[in-house]
Amino acid sequence: MEILAIRGMATQYETDVVVVGSFEKEKKLVGAVRDIDRILAGRITAAIKRYDFSGKKGESILIPSHGIPSHTVLLLGLGQRRNWDASVLRELAASTAKRTGQERAKRIAFAVEPFGGSRAIERSAAAITEGVLLGTYKFDRYHGKETKVEVEKRLITTVAVLVGSDAQKRQATAGIISGQRSAAMTCYARDLVNTPASDMTPQHLAAVAREIASKKKSQVTVRVLDAAAAKKLNMGAFLAVAKGSDEAPQFIHLTYTPKRSGKLKKVFFVGKGVTFDSGGLHVKPWGYMENMKIDMAGAAAVLGLFSRIDELAPRCEVHGIIPAVENMPSGKAAKPGDVAMTLSGKTVEILNTDAEGRLILCDALGYAVREKADYIVDLATLTGACVVALGEEIAGMFGNTSAFTKMVMAASKEVGEPLWQLPLPGRYKELLKSKVADYRNTGDRWGGAIVAALFLQEFVEKTPWVHLDIAGPAWAERETQPSVPLGATGFGVRTLEALLATLR
Ligand code: BES
Ligand code: MN
Ligand code: ZN
Repeated sequence: MEILAIRGMATQYETDVVVVGSFEKEKKLVGAVRDIDRILAGRITAAIKRYDFSGKKGESILIPSHGIPSHTVLLLGLGQRRNWDASVLRELAASTAKRTGQERAKRIAFAVEPFGGSRAIERSAAAITEGVLLGTYKFDRYHGKETKVEVEKRLITTVAVLVGSDAQKRQATAGIISGQRSAAMTCYARDLVNTPASDMTPQHLAAVAREIASKKKSQVTVRVLDAAAAKKLNMGAFLAVAKGSDEAPQFIHLTYTPKRSGKLKKVFFVGKGVTFDSGGLHVKPWGYMENMKIDMAGAAAVLGLFSRIDELAPRCEVHGIIPAVENMPSGKAAKPGDVAMTLSGKTVEILNTDAEGRLILCDALGYAVREKADYIVDLATLTGACVVALGEEIAGMFGNTSAFTKMVMAASKEVGEPLWQLPLPGRYKELLKSKVADYRNTGDRWGGAIVAALFLQEFVEKTPWVHLDIAGPAWAERETQPSVPLGATGFGVRTLEALLATLR
């Protein structure tokens, strides 16, 4: 799909569908809508009356357009002007691209008003680009040829963002490039998560990391620790989870080093990489295991970010840490009651083998601390309890430093990946006390997301740290947002991207 900034008028540009918009409660037509209406002798005004169009978000009318080169005009309700922002535009662009594709239109052009003050053209073009690419994403690798052909038929080929001057064209082009990059990183993560677990093994994740680092001129390097190397570092909790599986564990460490010299901050992004979570000996019941290939969505978000990290030109050293394992029951599996030694020197009693995420993460966090991280963000499909608390669209956020937590929150707001902060009440640490070890890996019935986060906190020392529990939003069971098709969502990639832009 080609996405281009075009200097041209909506009344003169030839395309299949020209997309224009009108705000709620603004009767007077302005901009491209007004221009087209004039040339079409008031046909838009007439359609607005006839179909009782009020400009509410989600409303739309398709108007035949004999009189201008575009074959049809799609008038969208943009909602209230004061709510006009990146998220609204992204979602409208996503639904428009899907819908026009379904109707076999091949080319669309956007002539809607940009949102936002300075850099409005750039940001709007980025939002349109992201919406179109994220919304029309399809995972068809495991389909036969016929389906692939059908999917192809319903894809638009050309998207134009119409602008009024050469200066605006440059701004829009910059927006399109950044939107394409964000969407590509997100879809990269989606592909990894959508891939069945028997193909997406720990070794495969390591191969993906190596491939990223081996790109020409890449400033990314990778180190992969196998079981023996992890053992030398005392990563007993990480290794305990892997014990039951025939798949070898891989502890993946990606490093991006900027070209600039001087003392650089080190930021660590840690992604849970359980390529399949059967629960281990505490095997999950029917209905709870089917989807557990998603348990490496945190790892996928980190890899998605790293897939294009050179182009983001971050100003700090960026580390991607992925403890990759498969959690399986077998004669070799870790048993309830086992005690694991961790990299940090603290010991953990494994009371529930299905609380495996925190086991691999505690060693990964300990590793980041040992490497002198200045900031740590971990992303993990960690608890069902978090989904109970916040539903499927919002990730739980925990942090030990308010300044850093605020930065992550601001980044997530900017890109429209919703987070909600949950507390880390010191009193609940009681629940993690073990009789035989320093900690146990489960609490009791209540507050599961919090207890898991409290456990992780014990391994980050004083490092500014944010934990994102993405068990809900990593996967879309239904389509609730046009830019998020069914399946893996790539949640977190764009938040990390936006956060990285503010770190130095
Ligand atoms: N991977 C699961 C959490 C999960 C649940 C992710 C639903 C995505 C969707 C995690 O490893 C897990 O099994 N957590 C347990 C923890 C419990 C045993 C303390 C849970 O949430 O039930
Ligand atoms: Mn589990
Ligand atoms: Zn899990």
